[in-house]
Amino acid sequence: MTFDLNNLLRENIKKLVPYSSARDEFKGEASTFLDANENSFGSPLTKWYNRYPDPLQIKVKEKLSSIKGVPVENIFLGNGSDECIDVLMRAFCEPGEDNILIVPPTYGMYEVSAHINDVNIKKVPLTPAFQLNLPAIEEAIDDNTKIIFLCSPNNPTGNSLDREDIEVILNNYSGIVVIDEAYINFSRFRSFTQELNDYPNLVILQTLSKAWGLAALRVGMAFASQEIIHVMNKIKPPYNINQASQELTLQALEEVGQVNDMIREIVAQRDILAKDLLTVPSVQKIYPSDANFLLVQVTNPKAIYNYLIEKGIVVRDRSSVALCAGCIRITVGTPAENVSVVNAMKNWNPA
Ligand SMILES: Cc1ncc(COP(=O)(O)O)c(C=O)c1O
Repeated sequence: MTFDLNNLLRENIKKLVPYSSARDEFKGEASTFLDANENSFGSPLTKWYNRYPDPLQIKVKEKLSSIKGVPVENIFLGNGSDECIDVLMRAFCEPGEDNILIVPPTYGMYEVSAHINDVNIKKVPLTPAFQLNLPAIEEAIDDNTKIIFLCSPNNPTGNSLDREDIEVILNNYSGIVVIDEAYINFSRFRSFTQELNDYPNLVILQTLSKAWGLAALRVGMAFASQEIIHVMNKIKPPYNINQASQELTLQALEEVGQVNDMIREIVAQRDILAKDLLTVPSVQKIYPSDANFLLVQVTNPKAIYNYLIEKGIVVRDRSSVALCAGCIRITVGTPAENVSVVNAMKNWNPA
C-alpha cells in the first residue's frame, strides 16, 4: 500500500490559505482587545460571552488527550462528529468526480453528506452476519474512491466489525479509512486510537453525544495523523465549537468516574432489556449489541412503531433499511423506560 496524502487531497484544498481569525493572529494576554469587533460592553447574561472562543480548543484537547491517550496534535474537534464527516468529504472528494464507499446498513450521514457535497457513493452491503464483504469491497474500489466509511460498533445493527477485516482494509487500501467509533464506550472491543502510528490513512471518529451524555453540546472528535488534522483545521469554520460548549465539555471531562458508572449501568440495562424483550410475543430476534441500542426484529414493525408512538414511546423504525427487514431500533433507556417499552409491546395486539 502506498499512501500519499498529497495525491488524495483536492487541488483547491492543497492550495487553500485558511482564514486567519483575530484569535489566530494574537493568542496572548492583553488588557485591551480591540481586534475582533466584539462588544466590549459585555453580554446580556450573568456570565459574559462577548469574546470569540479558542478556535483550536486547546484546553479541551489537552484534557481529551490525557483521557484518550492521543497527543493533542492528533485531535480535531467538530461541531458533532457529523461536522468531521463533512470536513473529510470536502478535503478529499472532488464533487462530481470522486466517490466514497459505504457498507450498508450503516449510519445515514455518510450518504447524506456525500449527496450535499455532490460526491458519488459506492455501496457494498454487509454480509448477512453484518460483517464486511472484503472481496466485494476490493472489487468496488476504483481510482476515485477516496474514503471508506466503517462504523464499529455499527449503527443500526449494534455489532462490531471484525478487527482483522478492518486491518485488511487499512493495510491494502491507499485512500482514507474512517472508523466511526461513536459507540465504542459500550463495546467489549478496544478502540483503534492506539493504532494511529501504524496507519497514516486512518481517521477515527468518536463523539461526546453517546456515552458522555452531551449530545446537546455538539462535540465530536477525529483522531488522525498530524497531517490529516492540519488539513481538517484548515477547512473548518474558524470558531466551530462555541465557548459554552468548550466550558461545559471541560467540566464534564473531569467526571470520568461518573461516566464510567453510567456506561456500566447502560450495558447492564441493555442485557436486561434484551432478555425482557425476548418474552414479548411479537419479538422474533434480538441482534447482539456492543452499543447503547438493540436492533430488534418484530412481526409487524410499522404497526408496532405506530402503537408505541400512541403510547408516547418513540423508537426507530429501521424496517426499510438494507438487511434490516422487520426491524426496529430501541435505545437502552432508564430501567423505568425499558420496562415501559417492554410492557407496551406486550400489550400490542395484532388484531
Ligand atoms: C455512528 C454514528 N456516528 C456519528 C453520529 C453523530 O454523532 P454527533 O452527535 O457527534 O454528530 C451518530 C449519531 O447518531 C452515529 O450513530
